[in-house]
Amino acid sequence: MSIRTPLWAVTLRGLALFSIAAASLFWSEAAAAGQQRSETAPPVENLVAKGRLQDGVVACDACHRANGEGDAGSAFSNLTGLTKEYLAKQLRDFQSGTRESRVMQVVAQNLSAAEIEALSSHYASLPPLPLSTNIPEAPQSGIALAEAGEAGRGLPPCVSCHSAKAIASDNKIPVLHGQQPLYLRNQLLGWQDGSRKNDPGSEMAKIAKKLSPAEIDAVSIYFARLPKTAP
Ligand code: HEC
Ligand code: HEC
Repeated sequence: MSIRTPLWAVTLRGLALFSIAAASLFWSEAAAAGQQRSETAPPVENLVAKGRLQDGVVACDACHRANGEGDAGSAFSNLTGLTKEYLAKQLRDFQSGTRESRVMQVVAQNLSAAEIEALSSHYASLPPLPLSTNIPEAPQSGIALAEAGEAGRGLPPCVSCHSAKAIASDNKIPVLHGQQPLYLRNQLLGWQDGSRKNDPGSEMAKIAKKLSPAEIDAVSIYFARLPKTAP
């Protein structure tokens, strides 16, 4: 198995296929019953818990969980502790394709602008949750990169932008504390291979391309272990 397709990726692919199959089943049943797409958007709680399958919107809860923590094994991100502005930008980026994801592009495709706002407010208002998964200690290289960077290689400390505390210093820069480790790793690999190209000024792409696979793992573990709430 290659480094890009560990077990959780296979699980994810299975889940995505299942979701698409479930969506088409639902759609054919809804069509048979002569139902029309509702003109009035359902409340955000409905979207989060039940989705709107005829439009490809699978319930957010199915993957990000009702408390927003996400899922470690499948690299579903922890949506808590992120700003409304950041979340809304990501959903718009999935729609426009500057951020690729076989799953989230389908989910975001038919969300209206008002739904994106409502969903982002919903997740931004949830209490920040630490991960319930056990994460091993971060190797020294992860600590060094995150806290000190490596000037000789043009690597600023991650915390110079991402904040050393669990409070976003900027609405557009996500807090990485307590984020799912496999999810973090996937984002850095995404900037390396160009499937994520949505950061202003391409700073993240420049940084990620300088990191070795071992450094990516180390820095992902470093941030995943940090508590989600500021001391
Ligand atoms: C079938 C699983 C699945 C469902 C359903 C799902 N997501 Fe996701 N979501 C993912 C995955 C996987 C990622 C990570 C994609 C990547 O690696 O770039 C993600 C990423 C995200 C992100 C980016 C987070 C960040 O830190 O940048 C947001 C925002 C998001 N999802 C919101 C939602 C919302 C809102 C819904 C419901 C309307 C939803 N998701 C439904 C699987 C799902
Ligand atoms: C110059 C500022 C800057 C520095 C330094 C920086 N980042 Fe970022 N990072 C950003 C911005 C801005 C974004 C959000 C991009 C977007 O809008 O999608 C981001 C996003 C991320 C994400 C995605 C988080 C999510 O929820 O999807 C990860 C992971 C990440 N950075 C890791 C790192 C790591 C690891 C380092 C250090 C090696 C680092 N960053 C250094 C600016 C920076």
